[in-house]
Amino acid sequence: MNRRRAFYVFLSVLALFLLGTVVVLSSVTYYLAIDPSAYLSELEVPYLDNSTRWNPADHGEVQRIPRIIHQTWKTETLPARWSGISRACREMMPDYEYMLWTDASSREFIAEHYSWFLDTFDDYTYAIQRADAIRYFVLHYYGGIYMDLDIGCLRPMDPLLIYPVILPKTIPVGVSNDLMFAEKGHPLLEQTIHNLVTFDHSWILNYPTVMFSTGPMFLSAQYGLYTASHPTSAGTEIRILPKSLYGKNAKPEEAPHSFFSHFYGSSWHADDAAFIGFLGTWGKGLMWFGLL
Ligand SMILES: *[C@@H]1O[C@H](CO)[C@@H](O)[C@H](O)[C@H]1NC(C)=O
Repeated sequence: MNRRRAFYVFLSVLALFLLGTVVVLSSVTYYLAIDPSAYLSELEVPYLDNSTRWNPADHGEVQRIPRIIHQTWKTETLPARWSGISRACREMMPDYEYMLWTDASSREFIAEHYSWFLDTFDDYTYAIQRADAIRYFVLHYYGGIYMDLDIGCLRPMDPLLIYPVILPKTIPVGVSNDLMFAEKGHPLLEQTIHNLVTFDHSWILNYPTVMFSTGPMFLSAQYGLYTASHPTSAGTEIRILPKSLYGKNAKPEEAPHSFFSHFYGSSWHADDAAFIGFLGTWGKGLMWFGLL
């Protein structure tokens, strides 16, 4: 009899959990929806091969994003599996400055330029949170392009530098923080670095904590907040890189004009499986709860 009761309790909890999931996912989908006019279309971006350079001024355009590539790693020595990918990008765009942010230089940079954030930075539980946070600060301070180490370059990024901010679309909703373009001091980044303090909460498990405090869900929330309070920004200032130009989770024939290749070593986040992983973790937790 008790077992039967436990089973019904388990079923009810499961039903509530599923209902909650549907409500959360549909509201997240609603609030994090990307305005169709925000997507960069392939027609807006000239298609160049990997050895053709493009100078905005020659086309009557203004370069907004400085030619700086930012990457992060624990130390100055990139792991062998990613060093070639990173080097190939720098060789393709030798005029781009390269800044590698190590654990030590990241902390020094925050202490020097954003000392109000140093306590939060030092107090993060997970190293990934620091690796996430530093990319928003260096983009705010210098501008440029932040790229995870597992992203490779297929053609020079020159034509993308005329937009103030570009973020890649991720699955199922929102934007990713593994590749970000920004001009120096853009107000979206200003909002983002300040909200790191507000969003610094623990969600008990490592995955949701990282996702919502510093990672892609955090950035997606910043995008949603910013575009809601600056309604014209989606179509003009902050452009979204569609799958066809971002290339992530796309077969080569689906994204022949992609600027990037992806090695899915996932240096920091297994981010596209994020929600599934998150639900999986909670699902397992609930199963244990049900079994108790
Ligand atoms: C550039 O493209 C050509 C032709 O697709 C390819 O053979 C070559 O390896 C590429 N070079 C770089 C540096 O990616």
